[in-house]
Amino acid sequence: MAHKISKRSDISVFRVLDFLRIANERERAGDDIIHMEAGQPSDGAPWPVIAHAKHLLDTDPKMGYTEATGMPALKERIVQWYHDHYSIDITTDQVTINIGASGGFLFSFLTVFEEGDKVALAAPGYPAYRNILIALGLKPVEIQTTDETNYQPTAELLEQLDEDIDGLIIASPSNPAGTVLTPNELKAVVEWCEKKGVRLISDELYHGVVFDGEVESVLKYTNNAIVVNSFSKYFAMTGWRLGWTVTPPEVTARMKCLAESMFVAPPTLAQHMALKVFDHTEILDTYVQRYKKNLEILKTELPKAGITKISDVKGSFYLYADIGHITDNTEEYCMRMLDDIKVAVTPGIDFDTVHGNKTIRISFAGSTDDVIEACKRIQNWGHNQRKANAG
Ligand SMILES: Cc1ncc(COP(=O)(O)O)c(C=O)c1O
Repeated sequence: MAHKISKRSDISVFRVLDFLRIANERERAGDDIIHMEAGQPSDGAPWPVIAHAKHLLDTDPKMGYTEATGMPALKERIVQWYHDHYSIDITTDQVTINIGASGGFLFSFLTVFEEGDKVALAAPGYPAYRNILIALGLKPVEIQTTDETNYQPTAELLEQLDEDIDGLIIASPSNPAGTVLTPNELKAVVEWCEKKGVRLISDELYHGVVFDGEVESVLKYTNNAIVVNSFSKYFAMTGWRLGWTVTPPEVTARMKCLAESMFVAPPTLAQHMALKVFDHTEILDTYVQRYKKNLEILKTELPKAGITKISDVKGSFYLYADIGHITDNTEEYCMRMLDDIKVAVTPGIDFDTVHGNKTIRISFAGSTDDVIEACKRIQNWGHNQRKANAG
């Protein structure tokens, strides 16, 4: 007799990670791969943070559990960050330290939604939102966005939904498009959620990685929203697996119980490093300058390879391009690009199951030399592709 396996665990494969695995395998086999598939800074945590970790391991190797919702000192530092960075005052009973933003999503969704609740989100969007919602028995309601709507859900688009929703996830800057909601658009989305009693979850992971003006936290407009953030992107500590949420205190209290029973505590060494990383934002800001330069190069060079419809990137380290005039099978296109010129980029189908076969996401979190070399390879290859198609 067949043994049971849950239906809820039957979620889509995360193709970005699949592409990363394949590219890594080929690299190990000797291929000169340029990685533009993964969303992680090529420079890790600033060196003083690493030095601090080494020192701690030498002097206090025990590394026991911390409080389930994180070290008080780190929560206080995050409170300070909101004060200094956004002029927003929050309290430590709003902060939970999680295992990445990913852990924050899990706790947030579990805390505020019931099974069967409907949660809206933009397509294209970060695929894990949809996958985690499904695994928890929630229903994702996709709001189809395009280049014309800046790949962001607006209050107008929300008004057009033909079903009632319990929650809404937004991300500004977004993954995969790097587009942002303007302060007015963000305010309008918040007001719509307040009016409808919709729980808003704001993924603010790419705050700090912003090239054009500042982006606002949703906390400026409401205390009912849940903010999810992480040390993975601006803070460049991807593999240390640490993030945080800011929630209304009654939500934090529930998260504490979930945290105790699900993970006991977030990783201790990573928390010590996170506390230190706030003192080295001058190093992190040089990374952001590099991403900005990389983006400028791509915006100039990609059109020469026929990649012209590029999202209006204001932050993050991704650009999203509609290449429907070149192919309607970007999965095959990206695999061919990897085979032919050893450049790894991601097909859009991960982010948008409807139109993603015409789009690609390019990560420019790597070195500028890599971006320049990738552009050269894509230009030569793109030229041959178009010639081959014409012939
Ligand atoms: C928009 C977005 N949210 C969340 C995550 C997950 O982040 P973390 O490493 O903090 O779990 C990612 C990772 O790429 C992301 O792009």
